[in-house]
Parts: sequence; structure tokens; C-alpha cells
Amino acid sequence: MKNQQFKKRNTRPYSSIMLLSAIVITALLGIVTYLMMETPEETESTVSTEIATDPERIEDGIHLRTGLKAGEGMDAVIRHCTPCHSAKLVIQNRMDAAGWESTIHWMQETQNLWDLGDDQEVVIQYLTREYPVSTKGRRQVLKDIEWYSLEQ
Ligand code: HEC
Repeated sequence: MKNQQFKKRNTRPYSSIMLLSAIVITALLGIVTYLMMETPEETESTVSTEIATDPERIEDGIHLRTGLKAGEGMDAVIRHCTPCHSAKLVIQNRMDAAGWESTIHWMQETQNLWDLGDDQEVVIQYLTREYPVSTKGRRQVLKDIEWYSLEQ
């Protein structure tokens, strides 16, 4: 009898330690799982699954599938300017309105680009607004160089 009581009294703290550790471990596992779910790096594969579930998905102002900036006229650019080549080819060429007009004309003459109709203006406005010439994609032509002659 006495021995049994002793056992009872003695196992109580032991089981509460077990219980406490179980709670702590569960909580820690929960926190770790939560942190792992909260901060996944935006990897190529997460982006491509997002594109697979919604090809027109826009994130942080960027149309994921094409890389184009979201804005008025983007749909027209996607429709007319991405069937033949990547949007990258479009984005990396910074031109003013006249430049775009002649590039479009050149593609119509030589590459079977169709007549854009009213969309031509929309496309040119989008491109000159979202990808202005001032933030050039390529190195600028050197200007204001002070040439010097080499001594013989
Ligand atoms: C019918 C097919 C087709 C469509 C549609 C098309 N392009 Fe092109 N585009 C081409 C081809 C082909 C080239 C040449 C690619 C190369 O040189 O590798 C080209 C080249 C270009 C270039 C590079 C020109 C250069 O000087 O190197 C730009 C910029 C361009 N396209 C923009 C556009 C824009 C903007 C649109 C939408 C209005 C568009 N493309 C729609 C076929 C097309």
C-alpha cells in the first residue's frame, strides 16, 4: 500500500515532464514548419508552377509568363508581339515611337507581321511608356570624348 502510494506520487512529476516535453517539441515542430512554409525562396520551379496554374498571372507588376511590365496595352503586346519571338527581344530594344513604327513596318515587310490596326498605337504607347529610351538596355554610344593625338 505504502509502496503503491509512493509510486503514484513519484510518477506524477515524471509524466508531467513527459507532457511538457511533448508540448514543447510539438510547438517547436510547428514553428519550424510554419517558418519553412512562410519563407520559400521564389525559385524557378515555384514560378513555373504559378505560370502553369495561371498563364496570365501578374506578380509585383510583372506578367510572369512573358516578363512584360503590367500596364495599359500589355495585352495587345502579348497578342501581337510574342507569337513569333520572345518578349525579351521586344523589351531589350529601347526605341522611340518612330523607331518602333519603323521596326513594326520592317517586320510587316520582311517577317510576315500582320497589320496591327488600331492596336499599333496602343503597342507603341505601351513600349515607349514602360520601356523608355532614357533607361537604355545597352551601352550608350560614347559621347563628348576628348581625343588626343599620340606623340610619335
Ligand atoms: C510574324 C512574326 C512576328 C511577330 C508577330 C512580331 N515579330 Fe518581331 N521579329 C520577327 C522576326 C522573324 C524577327 C527577327 C528575329 C531575329 O533576327 O532573330 C523580329 C525581330 C524583332 C525585333 C528586333 C529587331 C532588330 O533590329 O534586331 C524587335 C525589337 C521586334 N521584333 C519587336 C516586335 C514587336 C514590338 C512586335 C509586336 C508589334 C513583334 N516584334 C511581332 C517576327 C515577328
